Amino acid sequence: MSFDLERLRAETPGVSARIHLNNAGAGLMPAPVLDAMIGYLRREAEIGGYEAAAENAARLDGVYDSVASLIGASRDEIALTENATVAWQMAFYALPFRPGDRILTARAEYAANYVAFLQVAKRTGVKIEVIPDDADGVLDPQALERMIDDRVRLIAITWVPTNGGLVNPAAAVGRIARAHGIPYLLDACQAIGQMPVDVRSLGCDMLSATGRKFLRGPRGTGFLYVRRELMHQLEPPMIDHFGAPWVALDRYELRPDARRFETWENNYAARLGLGVAIDYAHAIGIEVIMERCLSLASQLRDALAGISGVKIHDLGSRPAAIVTFTVSGFEADAVKAFLAAAAINVSTSKPSSTLLDATARALPSVVRASPHYYNSEAEILRLAAMVHSLVHGT
Ligand SMILES: Cc1ncc(COP(=O)(O)O)c(C=O)c1O
Repeated sequence: MSFDLERLRAETPGVSARIHLNNAGAGLMPAPVLDAMIGYLRREAEIGGYEAAAENAARLDGVYDSVASLIGASRDEIALTENATVAWQMAFYALPFRPGDRILTARAEYAANYVAFLQVAKRTGVKIEVIPDDADGVLDPQALERMIDDRVRLIAITWVPTNGGLVNPAAAVGRIARAHGIPYLLDACQAIGQMPVDVRSLGCDMLSATGRKFLRGPRGTGFLYVRRELMHQLEPPMIDHFGAPWVALDRYELRPDARRFETWENNYAARLGLGVAIDYAHAIGIEVIMERCLSLASQLRDALAGISGVKIHDLGSRPAAIVTFTVSGFEADAVKAFLAAAAINVSTSKPSSTLLDATARALPSVVRASPHYYNSEAEILRLAAMVHSLVHGT
């Protein structure tokens, strides 16, 4: 598929009535995703849930291949989960920690991850330390290198945060983690679907991602990658008889693949939708998607920057398609409501989602506009025009 905006928009039912600039929240599902899910649900209703799964066994199994090829992994290194948080938790809570061990993380770390660090710190006495940023506010790999010693048990960072276009140097972090043999857990939730993700060149051991954001899959989907050699050493924090079959009265055996992190019951319609969403993105081309996302985001920043009273908060020299801003005299929620009344979807990001970063930069709640390749330039300009009219009345 070459990039044909008109066709891609025609295949996106949601664009007809609204301007959707909340892809960092949840992207609009394209028609093939919707059709696959509705068709599958219909079969569940018609012939039964177990029977529909049997009938679609090959397609459902193929979702592992779709995920694996999206991130350059092998299918046995993939677990499908109900969201990115569960994927991340499965990996993180499987790691052993002792008092005095160190976890190194990023300033823009996502709240769900950070509270898990805090819980494990409370339980085990592990220390959480934040890798300093460079002058642009981007994680500084040299500073990370200086922090490494034999007590560092984990490097866990967010690649693209929830609260802005910052793109942390995930591959540079991976090179350091690899060189020192330190497990590296990468939160790729906001990166997946808007930029190429290749676990080998990233050098990560574990990667978590969600289906509903820039991948345009359904809500309630996510996945975990665990590098094969590490996976074989990890016991999931919780197991059931799917991930760990009950093989003798007093014994279970962990599955040999990453599906040891899964449980038996699943939303198969959603899984199928995830697979179709990934194949859809692949057909367009991830590089093409990235270039268009960067271009629309940069157009939006330029347009907003020209409005007095608007301040943009994204960090880094080449920020991704998450544009965060504040409007002088207006709370972020009020801006969101004003735009919603004009059929424009944006979201807000509260300090508590990225508390370290929000505290360091004294950020209030910010408005978050996250375009995707299927948005048009006219939609970007319309958002900017509406923000202008909010501030200046025209
Ligand atoms: C950076 C980041 N990590 C993790 C998550 C959690 O993803 P999920 O809601 O699929 O668990 C989000 C969701 O907004 C996120 O932005």
